[in-house]
Amino acid sequence: MSDEAQTLDRAAAQRPLPKPGILDIHAYVPGKAKADGVAEPIKLSANENALGSSGKAQAAFESAERSLHLYPDPRASIVRAAVAERYRLEPERLIFGCGSDEVFQLLNTTFLEPGDNMVQGQYGFAAFAIGAYAMQAEVRRAPEPGFRIDVDELLNCVDDRTRLVFLANPGNPTGTWIPFSEVRRLHDALPPRVVLVLDGAYGEFALDPGFDDGLDLARTASNVVVTHTFSKLHGLAALRIGWGYAPLEIAQAVDRIRLPFNTSIPAQRAAVAALEDEDFQRASIELVETWRPWLNQQLGGLGLDVIGPSAANFVLVGFPTTPGKTAADADAFLSARGLLLRGVGNYGLPNHIRITIGLEPQNRAVVDALAEFMAAQPAPKPAA
Ligand SMILES: Cc1ncc(COP(=O)(O)O)c(C=O)c1O
Repeated sequence: MSDEAQTLDRAAAQRPLPKPGILDIHAYVPGKAKADGVAEPIKLSANENALGSSGKAQAAFESAERSLHLYPDPRASIVRAAVAERYRLEPERLIFGCGSDEVFQLLNTTFLEPGDNMVQGQYGFAAFAIGAYAMQAEVRRAPEPGFRIDVDELLNCVDDRTRLVFLANPGNPTGTWIPFSEVRRLHDALPPRVVLVLDGAYGEFALDPGFDDGLDLARTASNVVVTHTFSKLHGLAALRIGWGYAPLEIAQAVDRIRLPFNTSIPAQRAAVAALEDEDFQRASIELVETWRPWLNQQLGGLGLDVIGPSAANFVLVGFPTTPGKTAADADAFLSARGLLLRGVGNYGLPNHIRITIGLEPQNRAVVDALAEFMAAQPAPKPAA
């Protein structure tokens, strides 16, 4: 080793260094929340609920105002009871987290060690992999031909070091879904020591009778975890609360490493009220049911490649690669008009944009702006 290399080596040994791989992780990229020069942009970049949240949930949140000095119930007992009753689940098999994101992280931490691998689709939701990399595990990405999960491709990635398979159904950012018959085929073919995580964050918006979030499978299988969130259907993204339904041994293992107070009092109270407010849930689903086909048709009519059909509260749209008409150009064009969409280059999809389904005027504004964008002549190149 040269003198210089030795000096550098010694200097490195003096610094606290993150464990291998941490600095290679791409931090989660959130949807844009600001548009330059626009005071109140329309945010359709994070698959939030366009209707906001239930008034009853908001009142429950406000009722927590006088409890801010108290630690929350570490078992989230009131939400546990409410979820258990609503879905007819055993309360002790539920895991609550700071969003379902935390449930994924807890599962990664519980099951993965260096040398193990986690399998997901090519466009798997970013949070799955972050937690796996943090455990120094390998992340295997199964091709998704036609932007759809392919069970055989997932199975091809599984070997004797596979501990977890993550499947968001419907997927984000694709919005596509696979029928329960395929989920069951995947489960049947997986070795029983592999945990299959079925992320149903958008499951309530998947209305085809062939869709199933897997809760019934999870009731009896020893290796299936189903997760749900209060962020989407219930519009409580700010409060960070989600849940998983797991075999008892997995729920108990996760409980040993969970931060004790990982869901707050306001979140717990609002979640219970949100679960009770079926009118709000129905309205949220109806909004998506009404505007999803409309957006598909309108965007397709502009010559854009609408991926799908989407079963979620967003649509993924492919743009031409012609200069001036690319996804990045469209994103900039719409941002300048206060319309915030989600570029998905971080998912290896630089030619696509994800659009959350909004309220009627928001959806119309997006379509009008994209029509203008597609019709516009590209700006002439500056003279040399
Ligand atoms: C597929 C998928 N799963 C899970 C989540 C996480 O939801 P939360 O952590 O808000 O519960 C999201 C959020 O965007 C998502 O898109």
